[in-house]
Amino acid sequence: MKLKVNGQVRQIRGDSKTPLLYALRDDCGLSSPKFGCGAGQCGACTVHVDGRAVQSCQAPLWSAEDREVTTLEGLASAEGSLHPVQEAFARHGAIQCGYCIPGILMTLVALKAREPHCTSEQLRAELAERHLCRCGTHTRILAAAQEFLEAP
Ligand code: FES
Repeated sequence: MKLKVNGQVRQIRGDSKTPLLYALRDDCGLSSPKFGCGAGQCGACTVHVDGRAVQSCQAPLWSAEDREVTTLEGLASAEGSLHPVQEAFARHGAIQCGYCIPGILMTLVALKAREPHCTSEQLRAELAERHLCRCGTHTRILAAAQEFLEAP
């Protein structure tokens, strides 16, 4: 089947029920979506499908066919400059092991598009509902996320 990933059409072989995450990592060679829990609990595998944040470990391939799939690799510009959400996280040093960060960034970009005037309560609720992170950078993650969401 065909997938459009980060603007490129990819031919994927395999069962249409295969998780999108596996196709992105194994067939497309993209390393930003991570396998964490594999059960829709941790959010490490979050990517965009038509701009919506989706846990790709739970999304079968068929659900992404003929849609625009975007991973963190697709957020930065073609010239290589970082996306504003990446810049905010770099500025705040909002990374420890980094495993969950790509998924969090994808959620934040989708959140900003969906809720341009998102409050800090909405931000906290969104992250609490969609992401698990066990490192010690929650304060910096929230500061970077808030800065990104408040920027014009
Ligand atoms: Fe998909 Fe945890 S790996 S939600």
